Amino acid sequence: METIQITRAGSLKAKPDPKTLGFGKIFTDHMFLLDYTAGQGWHDPRIIPYAPLALDPSAMVFHYAQEVFEGLKAYRRPDGGVQLFRPGENARRMIRSCERMCIPPVPEEMFVQAVKTLVGVEKDWVPSEPGTSLYIRPFIIATEPALGVHASPRYLFIIICSPVGAYYDTGINPVKIYVENEDVRAVKGGTGYTKCGGNYAASIRAGERAEEKGFAQVLWLDGVERKYIEEVGSMNVLFKIDGTVVTPALTGSVLPGITRRSCLELLNSWNVPVEERLISAQELFDAADSGRLEEAWGSGTAAVISPIGELDWAGRRAVVNGGQTGPLTHKLYDTLTGIQWGTLPDTFNWTVEIP
Ligand code: COI
Repeated sequence: METIQITRAGSLKAKPDPKTLGFGKIFTDHMFLLDYTAGQGWHDPRIIPYAPLALDPSAMVFHYAQEVFEGLKAYRRPDGGVQLFRPGENARRMIRSCERMCIPPVPEEMFVQAVKTLVGVEKDWVPSEPGTSLYIRPFIIATEPALGVHASPRYLFIIICSPVGAYYDTGINPVKIYVENEDVRAVKGGTGYTKCGGNYAASIRAGERAEEKGFAQVLWLDGVERKYIEEVGSMNVLFKIDGTVVTPALTGSVLPGITRRSCLELLNSWNVPVEERLISAQELFDAADSGRLEEAWGSGTAAVISPIGELDWAGRRAVVNGGQTGPLTHKLYDTLTGIQWGTLPDTFNWTVEIP
């Protein structure tokens, strides 16, 4: 990649109180930009002061949602250093999302270099309060001013950063999840396996309805039969049934989560039996009724490991582990966050230090 040009902000913002961060409300002093022009490729990498963008109102992203995004975090270690968690996985997933959305992919090394350089510039923004981190949001938008439905010949790759605390207001306490029976999020052949804004736009109505009923989020069923469990609004789901961890298989409509994959790799290393397969809501609720649903949790970059205390589906209620965080969920949370925040050894080589 060409050298990243860095223009520093003339004045820096005051850092927020780390106890009141919430999720994705505060943004740092700088952002990364990279242009794409057909015939020229990706060019002009630069870090500039964080500011609104000037875009043509006819820019294709506003009309046809040709867009992809990613989410990863930088963590403050006890020794004061800063590290990323598996950024290459995000880069590779973004490439797969780009292929589906007809967006020219940003090469892995370029993506990782851009993230590392921006986080290096924003190092002071990585909070050190327990449970906090710097959330990094890379995204690509189609910028060509045109209303024909085609692949855009111009794009902008942007990275912004936000110091964050817990994703849910409940912190790491178990959440209540509503199994959605009407709306669907994705179907095979669609864009469900990509990280594109459209998937999330389609999920908002059900999410709002669930929140009105007192639930944290929706659990999606498959879009064809509305029978098999897929994922939760902002995370993958895993269940411990009769000693085996069961999680929906990646059938094309489920997001291939990096935290999901890390959970499976940790569970394998602990010799916990794992099954990636179809699991119906019926099977799950029957397991709960007969006392075999031992634990349930969500996994995601934003949500980390989020215990599920209750699931509601078509008038049936499953209370998991008495509404308390289960021991395996706890162990996964402790191990994963220990590796991410550098309080446990990184035996998997998952972390990447920011120089
Ligand atoms: C993440 O976990 O990084 C995500 O992108 C989920 C997001 C919808 C908050």
